[in-house]
Amino acid sequence: MTPSMKQIDLPALLPLRAVLVSTLLLFLLPAICNAEDTPFRIQFITNYKTFQFKAQEELLKENKDILPGEIRSLIDDAMSDDISIGQRMFLLDAANAMANGYQHYHGGGKKLLRKIHKLISNELEKEKQRNAELMKWKKEERFLGNFVMKTHEKEMEQQGLAPVIYPHWVHRIWFECKVCHQEIFIMKRWRNEISQEKILAGKQCGVCHDGNTAFGADEKDKCDLCHLAGRPGSERLHKADAVDHQHIKEVAKRLGAEWNIDKLPDGRIPVDRFGFIDWLTLKRDGIFKPVESLNGDFHQEVRDNQILFESKSKVNNVLFSHNVHSSWIRCTSCHPEVFSKDLKNNVKMIRMSKGQYCGHCHGKVSFTFADCKRCHSQEKGVRFEGALMHVGKPRKKRKRKDS
Ligand code: HEC
Ligand code: HEC
Ligand code: HEC
Ligand code: HEC
Ligand code: HEC
Ligand code: HEC
Repeated sequence: MTPSMKQIDLPALLPLRAVLVSTLLLFLLPAICNAEDTPFRIQFITNYKTFQFKAQEELLKENKDILPGEIRSLIDDAMSDDISIGQRMFLLDAANAMANGYQHYHGGGKKLLRKIHKLISNELEKEKQRNAELMKWKKEERFLGNFVMKTHEKEMEQQGLAPVIYPHWVHRIWFECKVCHQEIFIMKRWRNEISQEKILAGKQCGVCHDGNTAFGADEKDKCDLCHLAGRPGSERLHKADAVDHQHIKEVAKRLGAEWNIDKLPDGRIPVDRFGFIDWLTLKRDGIFKPVESLNGDFHQEVRDNQILFESKSKVNNVLFSHNVHSSWIRCTSCHPEVFSKDLKNNVKMIRMSKGQYCGHCHGKVSFTFADCKRCHSQEKGVRFEGALMHVGKPRKKRKRKDS
């Protein structure tokens, strides 16, 4: 059953923006109900969050007398100091919905509505500034394989520290993926809940940043080497050209890796036409040789075959090299979480663009989807000798019966 226009009357009174914000919050926030919640508020918020428009209408109609007080107390709670920005917006949106209902069904509350609108527009103005702030971090991440880490932004701010830039690409020069994934870090952003406390306990970044393998996270004069986002000096991490080759080489030597500056074409790191590092050329030309393990006990495990993804549309076929991938990446980084081994994964561009399948890495730390031909490299109709065939999603049963 689809809701009739009548049923969506109430939220239609809200500015679309506010509806979007609250819809988002619905998923982001745990229930925000505090000790002073009245049964009315609890019922109202529940209806509001679950889009029970009919029930909400009833509730608003039946509670005329207490509505002004309820609206005011929502506003007060929204503007209290000890509340997060997300919670504030949610409560203001709820107050707005309540005041709109009051006006709609009982014809009152004009003043309250004006007050709420003013508060919301103030908050939206602040949000705009915060977004501008976020765009600044976007800039820091524009170079493929830079991650800004700022889940503990408040604590860092309190100590006068900038958020962290983790230059994923710089580390790739010295270490194979398998050094970090999956033993030190799960291959998924934010999944590891990285914190200074864990680092100082010798975990996460602290496995290496212990003052031994790399500079220590407890060295008072080194904090800013990591807490660098948005600070002068961070530009260096946005360009392949700006690295200090001599330093990279020295570190590589110390670690038992290689960085052969003399083999760099024109003394520069090779990049693709989008300006991102061409790692395969680096590898092919022996320019770099990352270490495979921190303690030398590692067994290389490579699957030496190829899998052909036959395209059903106009684009060329895709040849996936198990060899290239598994020589750098552990089997367990892809199987079973990213791909099942049955050749039946439903690999589609739209899914990849959302970070599934090949999009788990490509566009994040490896070359982007804009580079179509690097994947769609095989002419159609040409069978590739020795390659396994990707099967794809099995057809529906009904079709099979027909044939
Ligand atoms: C020195 C350690 C290190 C090495 C080497 C390394 N990574 Fe990572 N990787 C990380 C960290 C740290 C994260 C972020 C984890 C987090 O935010 O919780 C990460 C995240 C990722 C992500 C998740 C991206 C996202 O947007 O969710 C992918 C994919 C990834 N790495 C792939 C690779 C591949 C492929 C290689 C090798 C070519 C590699 N990594 C080498 C440390 C490393
Ligand atoms: C497997 C070891 C390893 C892990 C894990 C690791 N690093 Fe590093 N990192 C290094 C080494 C080695 C260097 C080079 C140290 C030097 O310059 O002397 C380095 C350098 C850096 C630099 C300086 C890069 C530059 O060019 O200025 C930053 C920033 C950094 N690491 C941040 C991090 C953060 C943040 C984490 C955790 C999310 C992390 N690292 C995890 C080994 C590691
Ligand atoms: C090797 C890189 C690195 C160095 C060096 C480093 N930090 Fe951090 N720090 C991090 C990372 C990564 C985080 C987690 C970022 C996040 O919130 O997502 C962090 C978080 C923090 C936090 C937030 C609270 C918490 O527990 O996460 C504080 C405070 C902090 N660091 C202080 C310092 C101080 C002080 C120094 C110098 C003595 C320092 N850090 C040096 C990487 C580093
Ligand atoms: C990282 C590798 C990769 C890159 C880069 C890539 N594709 Fe794909 N693409 C695939 C794979 C794998 C499939 C699934 C096999 C198939 O159906 O062709 C696919 C499928 C497709 C399909 C079939 C229908 C669909 O949506 O799945 C189209 C069309 C397509 N790609 C177009 C493009 C275009 C255009 C670009 C460049 C903008 C591009 N691809 C870049 C890997 C890639
Ligand atoms: C970068 C990701 C990635 C890594 C790393 C990887 N695989 Fe795969 N694997 C795939 C993909 C993609 C397929 C094909 C899935 C499909 O067609 O639906 C596949 C298919 C398979 C299959 C079935 C086809 C075949 O080759 O027989 C097996 C078995 C397999 N992988 C084993 C491994 C083993 C063992 C390793 C480690 C040595 C490994 N894989 C590493 C991505 C990966
Ligand atoms: C776990 C991470 C990961 C996944 C998943 C992944 N790749 Fe890659 N891929 C890499 C890395 C790392 C490289 C090295 C180049 C780079 O980083 O830019 C690479 C290189 C490639 C190359 C160039 C090397 C070659 O074989 O000629 C192609 C093509 C490619 N990937 C296609 C795919 C396709 C298609 C898929 C999905 C079926 C896929 N990749 C899934 C990490 C990944």
